[in-house]
Amino acid sequence: MCGIVGYIGNNAVADELLNGLKNLEYRGYDSAGIALNDNKKIAVFKASGKLANLKAVLHEKNAKNCSSFMGIGHIRWATHGAPTIENAHPHLSNDGNLVLVHNGIIENYKELRQKLQNHGVLFHSQTDTEAAVHLFAEEYKKCGSLEKAVRNALPQLKGAFAFVIMHHAEPDKIIAVRKNAPLIIGCGKGENYVVSDIPALLGKVSRIIHLNDDEMAVVKKDEVIVKDINGQIIQKELEKVDMVADVISKNGYAHFMLKEICEQPSILRKVMQAHVQKQKICLDDAKIVVDFAQVQKIVIVACGTSLHAAMVAKKVWEEWLQFPVQIEAASEFIYQTNLLDEHSLVIGVSQSGETADTITALKLAQKYKAQIMVLTNRIDSSIVRYASSVVPLNAGVEISVAATKSYMAQLAAFYWLGLLMAQKLNKISHDDWQQKLQSLIQLPEKIEEVLSHQDNINLIAQKLADYPAVVFMARGFNLPTAYEAALKLKEISYINANAYPAGELKHGPIALLDENMPVLALFEKGETAPKLLSNCEEAKARHAPVIGIGGAKCSDIFDAYIETPEIEACFSPLLLCVPVQLLAYFTAKALNCEIDQPRNLAKSVTVE
Ligand code: G6P
Repeated sequence: MCGIVGYIGNNAVADELLNGLKNLEYRGYDSAGIALNDNKKIAVFKASGKLANLKAVLHEKNAKNCSSFMGIGHIRWATHGAPTIENAHPHLSNDGNLVLVHNGIIENYKELRQKLQNHGVLFHSQTDTEAAVHLFAEEYKKCGSLEKAVRNALPQLKGAFAFVIMHHAEPDKIIAVRKNAPLIIGCGKGENYVVSDIPALLGKVSRIIHLNDDEMAVVKKDEVIVKDINGQIIQKELEKVDMVADVISKNGYAHFMLKEICEQPSILRKVMQAHVQKQKICLDDAKIVVDFAQVQKIVIVACGTSLHAAMVAKKVWEEWLQFPVQIEAASEFIYQTNLLDEHSLVIGVSQSGETADTITALKLAQKYKAQIMVLTNRIDSSIVRYASSVVPLNAGVEISVAATKSYMAQLAAFYWLGLLMAQKLNKISHDDWQQKLQSLIQLPEKIEEVLSHQDNINLIAQKLADYPAVVFMARGFNLPTAYEAALKLKEISYINANAYPAGELKHGPIALLDENMPVLALFEKGETAPKLLSNCEEAKARHAPVIGIGGAKCSDIFDAYIETPEIEACFSPLLLCVPVQLLAYFTAKALNCEIDQPRNLAKSVTVE
C-alpha cells in the first residue's frame, strides 16, 4: 500500500504535500517523493526511506523556493523493485513533462514495458508504475490533452490503481483516476487536494468527494469535475469529513501503539452503549440483511490480525450457536475449492477495508451468490462495495501499523454478532444471555486493571528482549490469542516468535526448548488449565524460562507471571490480548525498535 497526495492552490505546495504525506505514513515508508509543477519545468525530489529523508533533500535542494501552484507526492510500500531512489515515485516521462504517483499494481506492466521499449522508450526503474507513465506520455503525444491521454491509456492497463497525474503544459489541473485503490478529493476554497485517505486532509478541508472505480477527476484550484471513463460528467455529492484531528495526535503517549492499546476500554464502552438498549442488542449502526435462519454455512475470510479475530469467532460461535464455522486466510481462499451457494454467509473482516486478498476473496464469494457481510473499521473503504451487510467496528482511526484496538473492536463485533445470532436462532436461554451480557459489560473495567499492571509487564519485557526467539502456547479459546501474541512480537520487535496449541509442543516444537527459548503460556478458566500447566512443567524440565499469563497464578513453576482478572473462558480472548499487546510493545521499546512503523510492513496491503 502506498500513500498519495496531490495539491493545487495558493499555499506552499511542498509543505502541503509533506503535511499530507506525514499523515499517510502508516501506508508505507520505503521511500518518499514529490513533484512540483513550476513555471519552467516539473521538478522531482525523491529519497529512499522515511519522509524525514525527503525533507532533508528538499532542504538541501531549496525546493521550497519553487514557484509552484500544484504538486503531487507519494510514500511507497515497495512491491515491484527495491526501495531505491530510482524506484521511488513520482515517475517522470522521458520528455520531463508528464509526472505521476501511483498506488496499486499494474499487472500487465511487463507486456506494456516490452511494447513501449520496442518503440524506443527508455525505462529507468524496476517498477510496474513506470510503464504507466510512459504509456500516458505516448498517448499525450498523439492527442495533446492530459485528460484524453489518460482516458485513452486506461483500457490498456490491467490491475489496481489510483493515479494522480500532472502535465507541465497544463499547469491548471491535476488528474486523479482510480480502479480498486482508494482516492478522495478534498475540496477547499481556492484549493483542492487528492489523497489516499482522510487523515491527510484533517485540519485542511471539511468537504470531500469519494472517487469510485473508473471515475476520473479533473481537479483545478476552483473546481472539481468528475467524469466517467467515457468523459461524461458525473454529479458527485460533497460529503462531510467526520474525523477529528485528534486521531492523528499521540496525545502525550510515546507511541500511537500505546495510545491505541490504552484506548481499548473506552472503545468497548462506546460500542456497548450503542449496542445494548433496554437489555436488547441493537446493532443499529450496522446494516444486516442476512436471514440467519436460512444460512447453512458460515465462512470467515481475513488476513493477519483480522484472521486471528476470525479464529476467536469460530471458537466462540461454534460453542454458542452449535453451528460449524469455517475460517480461511483470504489469500488461500482464492485458490481453493470453495463449496458455496446462496445459503452460505461469507464474512470478510478487515480493519482497513482495503486489503486486496480479502476483497478478492469476497468478489469470488459473490460469484457463488453467497450472502456477504463485512466487518470493517472504515465504512468508507472499498470492501463495503462487495457486501450487502456491513458491521462498522467503530475503533477510530488506527495509526500504528501493528493492529491493537481494531483487533479488540473486531472481537467485540464478533461477540455482539454471536449474541445476536444466538438470540435470533433461539440458541440461548434468557439467563445465559443475561450472564453473557454482564461479562461484556464488565470487560472495560477488567481491561483497565490489566493496563494498570504495565510496570510488571514492562519488567518482563526487558528480560524477553534478551532472547532471539520465544514460543507462545495456549489451549482452547486463547489459541488465536497466542497466534496474535506471536504476530505482535514478531512485527514490532523482530524477535522470532511462534505460537502452538500447547498439546502440539510435544509433537515437534519441544525440540527447540532449552534455557534460551522462553515459553509463554496463556491460561483460561476450565479444563484446559491443568493440562496447560503440565505443558509448562514439560517446558521447565527442558530448562526453558516459563512465563504465565492469565487468571490467578496457579503454580510456583513460573519464572514470571502476568495476572489478569477472572473472566469466563469464552470471553478471555478479549482480556488476554491486552497483556500480550503490552508485552510486544515494551519488548520492542526495550530493543529501541521503530514501534509505530516496523520495517517491511504497511498498515494495509492493497496488493495480492
Ligand atoms: C497488514 C497489516 C496487518 C493487518 C493485515 C490485514 O498485513 O500489517 O496488521 O492485520 O494487513 O489488514 P486488514 O486491514 O484487512 O485488517
